[in-house]
Amino acid sequence: MDNADWLMSQTKHRPQVAIICGSGLGMLADTLKCQDSFAYADIPGFPQSTVQGHAGQLVFGELKGKTCVCMQGRFHMYEGHSLCKTTFPIRVFKLLGVETLIVTNAAGSLADGFQTGDIMIIKDHINFPGLVGLNPLCGPNDDKFGPRFPAMSGCYDKGLRCLAMEIAKELGVASVLQEGVYAMVGGPNFETIAEARLLHRLGVDAVGMSTAPEVVVATHCGLRVFGLSLITNKVIHIRSYEDTESVNHEGVLEIGRLRSHTVQQLVTELIDRMEIN
Ligand code: 6GU
Repeated sequence: MDNADWLMSQTKHRPQVAIICGSGLGMLADTLKCQDSFAYADIPGFPQSTVQGHAGQLVFGELKGKTCVCMQGRFHMYEGHSLCKTTFPIRVFKLLGVETLIVTNAAGSLADGFQTGDIMIIKDHINFPGLVGLNPLCGPNDDKFGPRFPAMSGCYDKGLRCLAMEIAKELGVASVLQEGVYAMVGGPNFETIAEARLLHRLGVDAVGMSTAPEVVVATHCGLRVFGLSLITNKVIHIRSYEDTESVNHEGVLEIGRLRSHTVQQLVTELIDRMEIN
């Protein structure tokens, strides 16, 4: 893949950590020191992002003495990208020398104890598109990156999850921190009432339209993964069919802005304290 070579010819940074900034969480990239930024449109072979609230650039820089690369804006399946394109940046990161991937997203909650504005450490995921064959690893396996049949148990690193929980306690934000299972659905529509009931009965804690494909490709190529979901709304699964209230993208972005500082603090401290080989 020559995209990584092109990037390495344009920046001196050699990132150890890659961060995918979800809806309304892009400000983390603005805190990097000695930035080199590249609009997706200017990177040879890179897909283009089309969603409002997603800027569409790679930002390289230093955070707490570690070299990072941030994706400001990610690619979603619902934009019509193939999953191969959606996850393309992950393999670019691998080729750049990245060892740890941090993913963030906005999600709706189904867990009874969660509130809007809570932050959920992703313990595990259910990749609904993947279960029916919409998986970025479909097709010939590239042995250079990983095995044909990769294990996904333990794909959200236990050590990083524990460290994040400790950091939240120290920062005094443990009361908004949760841990749970994220389910990816295809989108772009939000769930019907019946779908919300289904997800709740299946034990899903938070639902969104991203992340699982990236994590699958990252785990396949041996990256250590940490994930956070910002709960931007509750998915009401016990509503009556007469209710008129509904979820919307602006509300999702609004909560993103409100809590983005806390997400940013957690990720920054985690990067500071994580061990890098
Ligand atoms: Cl309620 N559903 C889905 N699928 N994605 C979301 C969401 C809900 N809230 C934020 N992202």
